[in-house]
Amino acid sequence: MAKFHDKRVLITGGGTGIGRELVHRFLSEGARVVACGRRPGPLVSLQQEHAPLGPRLMTIECDICDPQDVAAMAKRIDGAMGGLDVLVNNAGVEERGKLDDLELRAWDRVMNVNLRGTFLVTQEFLPLLRKAGRGANVLNLSSSLGSVAEEGTLAYSVSKAGLEMMTRCCALDYAREGIRFNALAPGIIDTPMQDRSKGELGYQEWRSQMEQLHPLQSIGMPKDVSAAALFLCSAEADWITGVILHVDGGISAR
Ligand SMILES: NC(=O)c1ccc[n+]([C@@H]2O[C@H](COP(=O)([O-])OP(=O)(O)OC[C@H]3O[C@@H](n4cnc5c(N)ncnc54)[C@H](OP(=O)(O)O)[C@@H]3O)[C@@H](O)[C@H]2O)c1
Repeated sequence: MAKFHDKRVLITGGGTGIGRELVHRFLSEGARVVACGRRPGPLVSLQQEHAPLGPRLMTIECDICDPQDVAAMAKRIDGAMGGLDVLVNNAGVEERGKLDDLELRAWDRVMNVNLRGTFLVTQEFLPLLRKAGRGANVLNLSSSLGSVAEEGTLAYSVSKAGLEMMTRCCALDYAREGIRFNALAPGIIDTPMQDRSKGELGYQEWRSQMEQLHPLQSIGMPKDVSAAALFLCSAEADWITGVILHVDGGISAR
């Protein structure tokens, strides 16, 4: 039987990049998947791509920073599915800059989405995870920058370090209930989040510079992240909680 047969999975930021690959992988393993994001375009194209699966994929326009949006999404998912087995907090944004050139607006945007938004969604969906009972779990998308500092990444790195601590605190707080919390910390993955850097350097130059940052001398693809994600969210990882799994071509080994 498929690994996630009939499991109910929510993926925030599911319309693009890593989130979109996760939608695809969970669907192919038999899950019922909800993907959310702010822009309708990526969600509509996701629905079109998976049209033959019909009711196994639901898309919802939702800004994870807006408490009303998040509450409405939880109500809709609860009504349609009666609970949630897996929450993947994948939505995230990046702003570059050092202390002296990072605008407060950019700092706030990163903290708002990566930390406050993730907190809001997780808090709102906890009752649905409880309904699913022991084995329900949350996977947070951190970054290698959550623990390895790099120049010009202040706000993003701080937000991901915070997200890793959120993962560990929640892992302890809900361990007795059997609800697991883990995180993935990817290195550079070729997704739309990298479009600005790709545009600045040109694709080939960007790729060769990014490859050199990784001991394995290659960048990651969304499928590298989804393989690790499916393991951590599955019953095979039933005794794993509070873990930050690095999927980073060796960056964290340094
Ligand atoms: N790519 C990398 O190199 C890399 C490395 C390490 C970690 N990560 C992490 O992996 C996760 C996925 O990123 P990605 O690389 O796949 O980039 P991406 O394609 O830009 O995906 C980010 C997704 O988040 C959604 N999102 C952003 N703000 C949102 C909000 N307020 N409410 C709801 N959805 C929101 C976006 O959709 P809308 O704009 O439509 O809302 C988008 O679909 C992020 O947490 C990122 O920090 C990425």
